[in-house]
Amino acid sequence: MPADHEYHTFIKKVVRHRLRQAGFRRITTPIFEFTDVFKRSIGDETDIVSKEMYTFEDRKGRSLTLKPESTAGVIRSYIQNGMQDLPQPVQLYYIEPHFRYDRPQKGRYRQFWQIGFEIIGESDPALDAQCIQLANLINKDLGIDHVFTLQLNTIGTPEARKEYMQVLQDYYVGKERSLCEDCKARLSKNPMRLLDCKEEDCQILAELAPKMADYLDDESKAFHAELKSFLDEMGIEYVENPRLVRGLDYYSKTVFEFWDKNDGAQNAIGGGGRYDGLVELLGGQPTPAVGYAAGMERMIANMKIEKIQVPCKDDLHVFVAQLGVEAKKKCLPLIEKMRNEGIKTMGALGTGAIRNQLRMADKFQVPWTVIIGITEVREGTAIIRNMKKGTQETVPMEKVIPVLKKKIGEKNLDRYSPGELLYS
Ligand code: HAM
Repeated sequence: MPADHEYHTFIKKVVRHRLRQAGFRRITTPIFEFTDVFKRSIGDETDIVSKEMYTFEDRKGRSLTLKPESTAGVIRSYIQNGMQDLPQPVQLYYIEPHFRYDRPQKGRYRQFWQIGFEIIGESDPALDAQCIQLANLINKDLGIDHVFTLQLNTIGTPEARKEYMQVLQDYYVGKERSLCEDCKARLSKNPMRLLDCKEEDCQILAELAPKMADYLDDESKAFHAELKSFLDEMGIEYVENPRLVRGLDYYSKTVFEFWDKNDGAQNAIGGGGRYDGLVELLGGQPTPAVGYAAGMERMIANMKIEKIQVPCKDDLHVFVAQLGVEAKKKCLPLIEKMRNEGIKTMGALGTGAIRNQLRMADKFQVPWTVIIGITEVREGTAIIRNMKKGTQETVPMEKVIPVLKKKIGEKNLDRYSPGELLYS
């Protein structure tokens, strides 16, 4: 709806600005991909792939899926478009609609928007730190950073994880009866997801489960220690959360999420991490990468809770009311000139009585109305009405624009016209 678009526009500006400053370029991947792109990336046993994808067949029986997230598509595009030949790292960002067949509820929609960014082609904890710093900065710009805590963990390399998953499965032997149905099903294929289940009984068991930290490989440990030292250096606070695993299989080493201080993981505003194996998994050369994505609807909801008003330039300056065909002939060129001069103008160009048109002007809450009736056409004048005070003055037609500009104020005029930049 238009009122939400004010927030959308503002968030987009913040994101574009911050990412441009950091050397990112925008990418849009298709709304749907071959299902396999998501299945292989996100993982067959994840909630997203097993129950949240909008999958359908095209006319040739090929399986397609509306994108539930963008990382998989961006990496598919990186490989397909030869981006490995560009100077590395390749830094890309997106602002896109996504689709998940989830149970719709507060903060959870079947079509939702994400802003996200990916740094592909280099492995260094300094890049993970920069990702987190950018995410933090965006939250700060939106005035909602204080609502969230940064939850941080490392899930190590896939090899270290394999050993840990075996240890976890062994730990849960004999405890299956206390698990929720989802966790029972996950145990054999994706036991790490049991650690961040929201069910109370599952949480109690997860609390006592062996910790990933005890099974980490040395490289991941050193990587994580360095990342934390960078965050400390930048003054970014984090909570070490050994149970944070994220809901997508492509991660390795760093994972992080921004949790609501009240609701915890339930309404995380965004999350990300390192995914060093994904490019190779999708058929490219081994290429490390790290990234982040956040939900725009959740950003907006939090901005509203925090009573943050975004600047909006949609308010009209002037309403033009007229009576009769001759008046309309005067109004149309006047309206065009006014708009070109930066006066935001709407014309009541229907056939209603002046009284009704003024009522309309009131509803649109414009500060000024220009009225041109039969007398004004004959005399070459127009009436300028101050809608708040109810006062009005008659001015010669050629003075209408200068008088209005003075009333509106030079700095309030809307002169932005990107088309002009092409020819200046
Ligand atoms: P994700 O955690 O699945 O990560 O989604 C990121 C954010 O998208 C969530 O924190 C949430 O704000 C929003 N979101 C997810 N599902 C919904 C929904 N149904 N309705 C409203 N908002 C939703 C990813 O998507 C990864 N691709 C992030 C990433 C980028 N990792 C590396 N690079």
